[in-house]
Amino acid sequence: MIKKCLFPAAGYGTRFLPATKAMPKEMLPVVNKPLIQYGVEEALDAGLSEISIVTGRGKRALEDHFDISYELENQIKGTDKEKYLVGIRRLLDECSFSYTRQTEMKGLGHAILTGRPLIGDEPFAVVLADDLCVNPEGDGVLTQMVKLYNQFRCSIIAIQEVDPQETNKYGVIAGDMIRDDIFRVTNMVEKPAPEDAPSNLAIIGRYILTPDIFDIIQNTPPGKGGEIQITDALMQQAQNGCVIAYKFKGQRFDCGGAEGYIDATNFCFENYYKTGKAY
Ligand code: G1P
Repeated sequence: MIKKCLFPAAGYGTRFLPATKAMPKEMLPVVNKPLIQYGVEEALDAGLSEISIVTGRGKRALEDHFDISYELENQIKGTDKEKYLVGIRRLLDECSFSYTRQTEMKGLGHAILTGRPLIGDEPFAVVLADDLCVNPEGDGVLTQMVKLYNQFRCSIIAIQEVDPQETNKYGVIAGDMIRDDIFRVTNMVEKPAPEDAPSNLAIIGRYILTPDIFDIIQNTPPGKGGEIQITDALMQQAQNGCVIAYKFKGQRFDCGGAEGYIDATNFCFENYYKTGKAY
């Protein structure tokens, strides 16, 4: 059973400067809730209650968010404002939170490796909080992926079709189709130019990884951008047939940039806030 979910959250959020100068990008609110809270809720809904966060300098607000604020609780006790904290209290009651710091930014693969002491030797999920994923019709994306993991027992990555001109923003895969929404990965390339992309199937920020990935990352040389890429490490597993790519059901918003962030805000306002499901 998978219990742990790792959130790499040490990045600078440069696409959102100056908002992210002194505030973690994971704390940007989508309507009334910070991005990372949506991710933790998605993890808990999938049964992953051990939350591990890789933080960095200037990210202390993340730890404060997942803690009790006695002064605030005291102020609003017995008032109708208590309802605003119901959701976050549920997370505090049902999840555990552990943190480690990434002192140097050497890429997503390196960030995941930094989380190794928090994860140990068991399969785990990874959520990139600035990819906000929703599926109002049914299971959350991580829940869908955990079900697949239980079937295949190997690393699972979430993919979606993107505009072929945009492959240079993503890890891109090629694979053998097992079902119309499931592929056994045969090739993966980090941020290829459109003419070099093996397909238009892009990796989005949800992964389930088997723990052998840590040793593989340790032996993965820097790749695209001089960074240690999880895509390159996963390619090693894929060579042994051990990576499944899954076209998830639902929608994903790229909240690392203004356009996706605004779309996510509109979506959450209509579907959660206005309908009273925002807390
Ligand atoms: C990372 C991964 C990339 C993936 C993307 C999804 O890139 O390296 O393979 O497609 O997340 O959001 P980043 O967006 O951090 O540059």
